[in-house]
Amino acid sequence: MDVAAVESDLVKVLFTEAQIQERIAEIAAEIDRDYDGKDLVIVGVLRGAVMVMADMARSLTRHVEMDWMAVSSYGSGTKSSGVVRILKDLDSDLTGRHVLIVDEIIDTGLTLSWLTRNLSSRGAASVEVCTLLRKPDAQRMPLTVKYVGWDIPNEFVVGYGLDYRERYRNLRDIATLAPHVYS
Ligand code: IMP
Ligand code: MG
Repeated sequence: MDVAAVESDLVKVLFTEAQIQERIAEIAAEIDRDYDGKDLVIVGVLRGAVMVMADMARSLTRHVEMDWMAVSSYGSGTKSSGVVRILKDLDSDLTGRHVLIVDEIIDTGLTLSWLTRNLSSRGAASVEVCTLLRKPDAQRMPLTVKYVGWDIPNEFVVGYGLDYRERYRNLRDIATLAPHVYS
């Protein structure tokens, strides 16, 4: 879906499809380098990370296993609940393997700091985090993020996997949502 289809719901485009692809290619090159010769599993956090996982995996120039987890941290609105629950667990055994969690956005950091601890307890050789976007609140959590696409202001954004009540995920670009949509 193009921005033009939902223009009145959006305030402004933060990152275009082309800018996102360019940034993902840069991060993929770093990952290629950092994990050279290592057994790598990338773990996508459903459902928001679907787009970034698909593009990241294809930008890598090596074999990579893709696995998925679903956790609940948000209700259906715009605020984190702070409660993390596993809705779908991994299929892979992580023992001795290098794990990179791929997410589209870190807001409070609650979800990923919990997930990092959870996956580390499964005997992985390493557990790191990659996110396309990061909001300012995340800095207050004891969470090390190895790869960040962009730091953004504290605004609600949609598109490229990011939803508001399951809508706008299939928007090509990333844009700020107009307050009239959620207030
Ligand atoms: P955290 O636990 O607060 O870091 O929440 C992370 C999750 O909340 C993300 O993976 C998203 O699913 C969701 N989220 C946080 N901020 C936004 C936003 O601006 N738009 C859409 N989803 C968001
Ligand atoms: Mg997510």
